[in-house]
Amino acid sequence: MIIEKMTFSDFECIKDILQTDFDEFWNSNILKSELENENSKYIVAKENNEIVGFAGIIITPVDIEITNIVTKKTNRKKGIGKLLLDKLIKMAKEINSESISLEVNENNSIAIHLYECYGFKKVGLRKKYYNGKDNAIIMTKVL
Ligand SMILES: CC(C)(COP(=O)(O)OP(=O)(O)OC[C@H]1O[C@@H](n2cnc3c(N)ncnc32)[C@H](O)[C@@H]1OP(=O)(O)O)[C@@H](O)C(=O)NCCC(=O)NCCS
Repeated sequence: MIIEKMTFSDFECIKDILQTDFDEFWNSNILKSELENENSKYIVAKENNEIVGFAGIIITPVDIEITNIVTKKTNRKKGIGKLLLDKLIKMAKEINSESISLEVNENNSIAIHLYECYGFKKVGLRKKYYNGKDNAIIMTKVL
């Protein structure tokens, strides 16, 4: 398994299968604009040259925010999410950020468990943040 910077060529490889094979809540337009944003940094996990996960952060004036962590559906529960999150935390430390934060759907217990494993704490709630329905939990880790 290798974790490396996501390139536009990586994007081309996954853009057509992003919603079916990775995450139905993200589309390729969002990912493309994230890659074009100079304040964003994206990484991919590759196994035998196949992209099996990706994740990203955005640098804001306040701190570093995790925009998404996604493991390919066929490759979940093998530790890839942990590898990606570990790398994002290292990247945030290298930028000398004091904290790293994220928003997660309160029903996404798997992702919440993953973040808690790495010391993220629930610090707030955005009501009806997702589709005007589900609440978002704000989680932060002090670095
Ligand atoms: C959240 C996500 C990235 C986790 O990826 P993953 O590669 O499966 O995660 P890992 O294999 O590293 O597992 C991390 C932890 O979650 C647990 N876990 C993963 N999938 C699970 C499942 N389906 N049921 C129960 N626990 C699960 C693992 O057991 C592990 O915990 P443990 O070390 O205490 O056993 C993945 O489920 C995903 O891509 N979800 C869709 C996108 C998403 O919701 N991203 C988060 C946005 S905020």
